[in-house]
Amino acid sequence: MLKGKRILLIVAGGIAAFKALELIRRLRERGASVRCVLTDAGAKFVTPLSLQALSEDRVYSDMFSLTDESEMGHIQLSRDADLLVVAPATANILARMAGGLADDLAATVLLATDKPVLAAPAMNVRMWTHAATVANVETLRQRGIHFIGPNDGAMACNEFGPGRMSEPEEIADAIEGLLAPAERPLAGKRAVVTSGPTREAIDPVRYISNHSSGKQGHAIASALAALGADVTLVSGPVSIADPPGLTTVHVDSADQMLAACLAAGRIDIAVCAAAVADWKAARPAGSKIKKKAGMAPPSLELTPNPDILATLSKPGQQRPALVVGFAAETENLVANAIDKRQRKGCDWIVANDVSPAVGTFGGERNTVHLISASGVEDWPTLAKGEVAMRLAGRIALHFGRPPKAEAAE
Ligand code: PMT
Repeated sequence: MLKGKRILLIVAGGIAAFKALELIRRLRERGASVRCVLTDAGAKFVTPLSLQALSEDRVYSDMFSLTDESEMGHIQLSRDADLLVVAPATANILARMAGGLADDLAATVLLATDKPVLAAPAMNVRMWTHAATVANVETLRQRGIHFIGPNDGAMACNEFGPGRMSEPEEIADAIEGLLAPAERPLAGKRAVVTSGPTREAIDPVRYISNHSSGKQGHAIASALAALGADVTLVSGPVSIADPPGLTTVHVDSADQMLAACLAAGRIDIAVCAAAVADWKAARPAGSKIKKKAGMAPPSLELTPNPDILATLSKPGQQRPALVVGFAAETENLVANAIDKRQRKGCDWIVANDVSPAVGTFGGERNTVHLISASGVEDWPTLAKGEVAMRLAGRIALHFGRPPKAEAAE
């Protein structure tokens, strides 16, 4: 995907600098050439020799090197690249970029470039959330600098939270998204898709569930992955296989499904195609409820399940940029779905008729209506895979990145 593309990789000084080595390998596997600029602080974490060995090119560090300036020149370094990648992008280099400093080779190249720049921040969680860093990142975003990450997780400083540099594979995907946008328009985007039914235990052997097969949700997860998204599929119990090329988390109940969605961390896209049970047993029995002669049937008290779609749609910093729900209706399909979109607070809702006569549950085809703030689109009856590809294409367009077919039109 990156054949012939030239990446100038700026390695700044953070513990995550070791991941730059893996990033070079990933980029070269994809056909890119990589040239490195190493800051003085970066050289405390990785050696120029390692970068040189993996990139099979010289490593540039010194702004005042007579040899480098006569052979290459700091302006030429950025001219010769298709993309500049700062990984790790420390609080220090982000501040220097935002302030327009040119106090070393890396900062000078970044100031002198007219090429796109992707930054992969990596720093302590308090540094990342500090008002100064927040303001610097905002300034850089407004100037068109692209960002990937940081991810949440345990950090070298024994703290937990956002600040871990994205993994090399994620950064390589984001680079592809920038340099080959029509091929993988959702590269660099993280998505969660829910699929299948949930099972709500009545006792250890009985449960409440529904007929969802997972075919529609799994197809959507695959379609998003095919367009380059990093997808976590949260699947209820189904008999179909896990799709390749993405992460599948298996759950039983709605509570588990919600927890798995939240555990996926910061995401850009959520598609809730699962048929989540609206209610669960208020007090599931710890052992099998015995049927005894002459005994009246036991009554079952229900309590509401958490609403996963409504939870993910809640406004706030963690809200995905795009939340898509499904509406399974047996009557007044479009009117009920419009109402559901508003009640749940999602951006789009895909309405489908699940009357038994239509055969949507478990079937191969689906007739849907895509409902957004701008109106209702009626789609023809399509195979579930086609519905999925169409929806994924619309999602890519929403992020301003038309997939190949649309790009060629
Ligand atoms: O799995 P298949 O056999 O391929 O069938 C596909 C499908 C019919 C299951 C799918 O296309 C579909 O319509 N999924 C949504 C089913 C559903 O639960 O619809 P609903 O109208 O009850 O819920 C509306 C939305 O809220 C859905 O996005 C649902 O995932 C979500 N929800 C509902 C209840 C709840 N407690 N939490 C939720 O997140």
